[in-house]
Amino acid sequence: MADVRILLISGSTRQGSGNTAALRTVQALAPDGIATELYDGLSALPAFSPDEDERPPGPAAELRARIAAAGALLFCTPEYAGTLPGSLKNLLDWTVGGGEIYGKPVGWVNVAVGGRGTGAEEHLAMVLRYVGAAAVDGACVRVPVPREAVGPDGIITDPEIRTALGAALTTLAGAATQPVR
Ligand SMILES: Cc1cc2nc3c(=O)[nH]c(=O)nc-3n(C[C@H](O)[C@H](O)[C@H](O)COP(=O)(O)O)c2cc1C
Repeated sequence: MADVRILLISGSTRQGSGNTAALRTVQALAPDGIATELYDGLSALPAFSPDEDERPPGPAAELRARIAAAGALLFCTPEYAGTLPGSLKNLLDWTVGGGEIYGKPVGWVNVAVGGRGTGAEEHLAMVLRYVGAAAVDGACVRVPVPREAVGPDGIITDPEIRTALGAALTTLAGAATQPVR
């Protein structure tokens, strides 16, 4: 497989986040040929303003550049009040004008347990559709991660969860190496 770069975006800013742990685990599982990068700028992103869309402030410009440089994006987000965390929606709002996500393969992992997180998942899918992302079958998956599955190092050791996360990553990477239509 040709080298592909995947930007991992967690919707949680919480220390000890299960969503971020899932993406950290994805990073640990990435085989040769798949370069992963965990986006770490969510808390520093200013509130989106259309007035600044043409000349975005530093953190938003950096976000756009990191998305543009990635062959694919993998999201993992909690649900807050029935939808996406405002901080993640804010991140996505910064990408509307820039168009960096247009045509880009994307996936997401819903790690909520007990069938929860449906609102966040549906709304993430809707916003990503709106910005023209190409959602990849097999990389938009539910992989429940109970709190106790996250080790003290912030990595998930459960083999079934790791297999499911690894499969989502390789499926997404496979789509990223295909020509975008
Ligand atoms: C402000 C707030 C609102 C929440 N609203 C919902 C909700 O509407 N539905 C739900 O299933 N869980 C909700 N939760 C629970 C979180 O989705 C859950 O704690 C999740 O595991 C947090 O992800 P993290 O471990 O990555 O931070 C909410 C949590 C917080 C802090």
